[in-house]
Amino acid sequence: TNTSRPVVLIAEKLAPSVLDVFGDDIEVRHVDGTDRPALLAAVADADALLVRSATKVDAEVFAATTKLKVVARAGVGLDNVEVPAATARGVMVVNAPTSNIVSAAEHAVALLLSVARQIPAAHASLVGGAWKRSSFNGVELNGKTVGVVGLGKIGQLFAARLAAFGTQLIAYDPYVAPARAAQLGIELVSLEELLERADAISIHLPKTPETKGLIGAEQLAKTKRGVIIVNAARGGLVDEDALAQAIKDGQVGGAGIDVFATEPTTASPLFGLPNVVVTPHLGASTSEAQDRAGTDVAKSVLLALAGDFVPDA
Ligand code: MLT
Repeated sequence: TNTSRPVVLIAEKLAPSVLDVFGDDIEVRHVDGTDRPALLAAVADADALLVRSATKVDAEVFAATTKLKVVARAGVGLDNVEVPAATARGVMVVNAPTSNIVSAAEHAVALLLSVARQIPAAHASLVGGAWKRSSFNGVELNGKTVGVVGLGKIGQLFAARLAAFGTQLIAYDPYVAPARAAQLGIELVSLEELLERADAISIHLPKTPETKGLIGAEQLAKTKRGVIIVNAARGGLVDEDALAQAIKDGQVGGAGIDVFATEPTTASPLFGLPNVVVTPHLGASTSEAQDRAGTDVAKSVLLALAGDFVPDA
């Protein structure tokens, strides 16, 4: 191999669009980012490291590098990258902040509809040999009040899609101007009021010290009885134990959950409860979103390796 080519280490499964952007000027290597010893060995001579959600890029990883210039996360947010540790080593961190926002919003809608019509349970029942029409009575979204917690890019896309179902939209977001929300046909309210009025609540927030555990036992107790909770944002924004308890008590009618406080996980107090629909962090898992994420981060990595300014996507 030609050692003068920059080495880009890909630590998770990314779309082939990544390789299309890199072409022959880059030496691409692969490693399983969850295999810690292999990752630590492989980053030693990498110029760039590409990850998705599963690879923990922390101080130990940075300490194992010798010429790393950029870490790229093929998604929104930087949850699994320790940014201060990168900064301390002079390593640039980039992501693909708009690549999967439509996919995330669509997945939240899918979870909401799945819960409202009990689609997974009905499917399991039918393929299990039972034709039980009377066991699966759903609710309509039409005419319902839907509360959007976090009216950023994904929250707004979710709201726009829900509007087509004839819902009334309310949102809580201290960083959005009421005039902007009004433009979108959404009423901005306090979290308190949202909890009290919404028939369904979908969370669209990043995980920060302020948002972690935002929806816990105290908040769930203030909701309308039978409310549906959706979280396709980040695990831990909704307290899983509190949610499970609220579902058992009948306070919460159902939940659609894509993200968990600990990932990967194969155990949660939510599993096995009726009217809970879960997916293993699939919000960004579409062909389109992964193509975009791959292209966006690969372009940013090329710019970073060339020492050029990397614009926000
Ligand atoms: C994101 O932050 O955009 C997603 O969580 C990325 C992913 O699914 O890997």
